[in-house]
Amino acid sequence: MAASSEPEDLLPDLPDGAPDGANDAAATPRGSRMHRGGKLAFRSRVQDQEDDPGDRLVMGGENPPALDELVPKGYRDVEIEIGSGKGAYLIAATAAKPDTFLLGIEAATGYASLAATRLHETGRTNGLLLVDNGKLYLEDRCAEASLAAVHVYFPDPWPKRRHRGRRFFTEDVLDVLARVIRCDGYVLIATDNACYAGQIARVMGGACDFVRDEQEEQRRIAAGPGHAFTPTNFERKYLEQGRVIRRYAFRRLPRRRGDA
Ligand SMILES: C[S@@+](CC[C@H](N)C(=O)[O-])C[C@H]1O[C@@H](n2cnc3c(N)ncnc32)[C@H](O)[C@@H]1O
Repeated sequence: MAASSEPEDLLPDLPDGAPDGANDAAATPRGSRMHRGGKLAFRSRVQDQEDDPGDRLVMGGENPPALDELVPKGYRDVEIEIGSGKGAYLIAATAAKPDTFLLGIEAATGYASLAATRLHETGRTNGLLLVDNGKLYLEDRCAEASLAAVHVYFPDPWPKRRHRGRRFFTEDVLDVLARVIRCDGYVLIATDNACYAGQIARVMGGACDFVRDEQEEQRRIAAGPGHAFTPTNFERKYLEQGRVIRRYAFRRLPRRRGDA
């Protein structure tokens, strides 16, 4: 489903940039997976409409199911989107790639529930929403080389200097992504934040296991909605504002002998 054909959004737009300290206090302490090192603050539910996510929503809790427990048998390609928000990309991707299984990992329960409700309404079963910390899920619930792609669209930029360690694309993410993405799989990223884009280019561009693939960026953009990058709610908002959006595809290089 394209973002433009979505029903009127019932949640307010997520705020630009990072939530400030007020959100830390508002976050529900749902367990250590959500508050590892006190580094993540998650927004509380702000909608009062009844969702019906059917069986498209999984609450991760303290012991989320492993990826192979969530993916039905028969899918050769499995992709994860971290921070699915209201689900525009995930829903478009399940339509564009019917033979691929798409797992959206969203830390905020309200957004995950709304996205799962929208997915449920499509009747498609090649996608699922999981409430969890995406980085941690890749780290401890995904097998080596189990993913064809990881999508991260408009990750929170955490603009305050003291919060920079909370960003998704810090040095520690490289080993995590390199382990779970199969050879010739992709990390696909979009951001409007020039400073964060610089960090992403530096971190991912300096990685020995990944190489930027500009042809793939063009190929996916040309393939249309759901193949990568578009549509997302933040993309729509930022395009309306005339912001520059940077999109990156980093390809996983073949594993070297001795790699885990
Ligand atoms: C700026 S919003 C972008 C949402 C969506 N990708 C879009 O483009 O409209 C970032 C989203 O990532 C989620 N998020 C932040 N850190 C996360 C994490 N570690 N794991 C899963 N979701 C996370 C937030 O709750 C929020 O919904």
